[in-house]
Amino acid sequence: MNRDLKISKIVIASDHAGFELKESITECLRGDGISIEDLGPSNSDRVDYPDYGIKLAKAVSDDESLNGIVICGTGIGMSIVVNRFPKVRGTLCSDVYTAKLCRQHNDSNVLILGGRVVGSGLAHEIVNTWLATPFEGGRHSERLKKIDEIENMLIKGEL
Ligand code: RB5
Repeated sequence: MNRDLKISKIVIASDHAGFELKESITECLRGDGISIEDLGPSNSDRVDYPDYGIKLAKAVSDDESLNGIVICGTGIGMSIVVNRFPKVRGTLCSDVYTAKLCRQHNDSNVLILGGRVVGSGLAHEIVNTWLATPFEGGRHSERLKKIDEIENMLIKGEL
């Protein structure tokens, strides 16, 4: 696939319910020459989604140049986990429009998918759109700054 890529460094993780989709997205992106690090799991045995969501969110939180793709059954569990981490903007997408807008307006740095919700064809379209769409900045940056402030205010006991 010929993508106008805006993202080059990617980490990916899942639980057992997202394993199959993780494997197919990883294979496809690697086939396109994209640098993608698989944080596991390495097979479809039952695992707890927080264990893999934490690994991925920590990697993205620690390195602003990194973007992530994370998959569980519905995407909900992974959404709850990754958005606990500072500087992680995880967005659950089940349609292409949301995949585009979450990059343009929310500067999404983690794409979250529900492996039991979206079919493989749609999931790949979502990934392609998310990868190719840049952040628009401007008024959206101001809004994101307000979200970042939440953490500081909580630490200071101002919220
Ligand atoms: C696993 O059965 C399932 O609970 C998990 O993949 C996810 O959907 C949780 O939100």
